[in-house]
Amino acid sequence: MAAGRRKIAVIGAGNVGATCAFVLAQMKVADIVLLDIFEGFAKGKALDMSQNSNVLNYDGTITGTADYNDITGSDVVVVTSGFPRKPGMSREDLIGKNAEIISQVGAGIRDHAPDSTVIMVTNPLDLMTYHMQKVTGFPTNRVIGQAGVLDSARMAHFIALELNCAEEDISPMVLGGHGDTMVPLPRYTTVGGIPITQLISEDRIEAISARTAGGGGEIVKLLERGSAFYAPGSAAAIMAESVLNDRRRVIPASCYLTGQYGLDDVYIGVPCIIGANGVEKIFELDLTDSELESLQGSANFYKGQLKDILGY
Ligand code: LAC
Repeated sequence: MAAGRRKIAVIGAGNVGATCAFVLAQMKVADIVLLDIFEGFAKGKALDMSQNSNVLNYDGTITGTADYNDITGSDVVVVTSGFPRKPGMSREDLIGKNAEIISQVGAGIRDHAPDSTVIMVTNPLDLMTYHMQKVTGFPTNRVIGQAGVLDSARMAHFIALELNCAEEDISPMVLGGHGDTMVPLPRYTTVGGIPITQLISEDRIEAISARTAGGGGEIVKLLERGSAFYAPGSAAAIMAESVLNDRRRVIPASCYLTGQYGLDDVYIGVPCIIGANGVEKIFELDLTDSELESLQGSANFYKGQLKDILGY
């Protein structure tokens, strides 16, 4: 790997950020800077991970910091800062507190890593991604929201349980917002190339879709303190790697729409190619009226929140 040459910053050294950094370290794709307002927290986790380099055989550097100067030159910045949900909360309940945090983080990124591609993880995801794009003023293709990878992976897991089959042969598709309005698309979800509509009964597909939409909430309830982090952190790492190595992975992500699906000026989950320039291409799927209605309903819910709560 090109140790010391390419660079990824992960903002927020909490569970999601630390997991993301840990997965990225094992991918051996770049030097990693872990930034948190609590300096010791970032430094401690970075040192702990660094001490693992020999055991897990990675050789890029992992450093902790509270200073935005240290993210200078980052190719990719993953943003995980913010408060997680507590049981009974929706992701949207976090909007006020987390918008303030994203204003500060966005200014730091704009001033110190102006050429980076930003991958957002902070909730409420689609709203914070929009907010980050406004704060940084970056081209919309260079600000992307993580959610589709996570939501689709959750759906894949529930399908694997249902069919008792290998996870890797499932190609799931979940679009829409990362919240209660998300839109699992069974018609576009395949196992070994076979649409799940041919393999699983309608009732069971409905149950799987509902469990997918409530996937994050199910974990919040179980943990009682905090929310999911292994799958969210790993999903963000996968996206960061696709940008850094120009992998051009085809995945659902929260992208800025300019007329696709009859929607504009909103970030919402759609299938896209993620490469060196961030969002390289957005795919417009052929949707049934009810699928399109669900996607537009999800986007319009967020458009309302952008206007009413964030004042856009
Ligand atoms: C989840 C949070 C991270 O879905 O949004 O688990």
